[in-house]
Amino acid sequence: FLDMLRFLGRVVVVTGAGNGLGKEYALAFGARGASVVVNDLGGNTSGDSSQSSRPADEVVKLIQASGGKAVADYNSVENGKAVIQTAIDNFGRIDILVNNAGILRDKSFVNMTEQDWDLVHRIHLRAAYSLTHAAWPYMRKQQFGRVIFTTSTSGLYGNFGQANYSAAKMGLVGLSNTLSFEGAKYNITCNAIAPTAFSRLTQGLLPSGAEENLKPEFVMPLVLYLCHESCSDTGSLFEVAGGWIGKVRLQKSSGAMVRRANAPMTAEDVRDNWKDIISFAKPLYHLTQADQVSHIMNVVETISNNDEKTTNDIFTQTFS
Ligand code: NAI
Repeated sequence: FLDMLRFLGRVVVVTGAGNGLGKEYALAFGARGASVVVNDLGGNTSGDSSQSSRPADEVVKLIQASGGKAVADYNSVENGKAVIQTAIDNFGRIDILVNNAGILRDKSFVNMTEQDWDLVHRIHLRAAYSLTHAAWPYMRKQQFGRVIFTTSTSGLYGNFGQANYSAAKMGLVGLSNTLSFEGAKYNITCNAIAPTAFSRLTQGLLPSGAEENLKPEFVMPLVLYLCHESCSDTGSLFEVAGGWIGKVRLQKSSGAMVRRANAPMTAEDVRDNWKDIISFAKPLYHLTQADQVSHIMNVVETISNNDEKTTNDIFTQTFS
């Protein structure tokens, strides 16, 4: 295996690494030479106050038993500074951060409490901010960093009963997008993954009988590759499940210019152009906001000049 992807000398923080997907990542990084901070506060799936050092300890033991380097960290991801400090104190650096820890507090929106909303946002979105913000100065200074954000198809597509979770998960995509730009000149890459795998979190949520095909170990290899120094892809979003991996991007319709020169833009103009506005016959893709702005600047030049109605005319027609 001469061309095997190794992580010798790299220090990795995997959050929520005591179970499920995070455990799989931590074991794999450990087996490939990285020093691993196994973060997990040992909570339950709804983030109630229960805590235990056992899940993190067990993963650390497994890594050490096969000759790898690992240390447990029991801080909540809400305290990103403390988690990153564990990496610095034990291994002297931080190269790779996998934002993975997560909980669910599913409820239909009408029954969702402020606590359900806030807790899910704190553990998913705010924690990812807190951790990444703490790791960022180290990554900048050493001109190397790999950050993974874990989003969800519930965020990308929406899912009944997950208003809190899907909003936080979509927030992570925005965070990854922006940090991919801010990190570019320091060789810090930021990517988001939307995994699907059997875990205690998805118990009863995935098709029964699919367990053999939807194992966390079929998600792990993508995370490893994205975190390797040989992969420079950044600002990307991937769906990954059961061994299938695909890149996801936003698409928009060619749309319609519904405004005419020297005429007010009206709701009727929108209605009359609706078919074109929503038609995906010729989709457009923009990879940066600058592309999007230049598209708009080109499009406004296509305004037709054949309607000389003025705002005042419409106003008079409507109200007189
Ligand atoms: P899991 O429940 O098996 O593992 C999550 C781990 O995070 C647990 O060990 C838990 O103790 C830990 N954790 C929770 N709150 C924490 C906190 N405040 N501080 C430190 N650790 C904490 O869940 P799973 O399925 O492995 O999920 C991992 C990530 O993947 C989550 O972000 C989840 O939202 C996301 N995800 C998973 C999907 C799946 O199909 N399993 C689908 C889409 C997203």
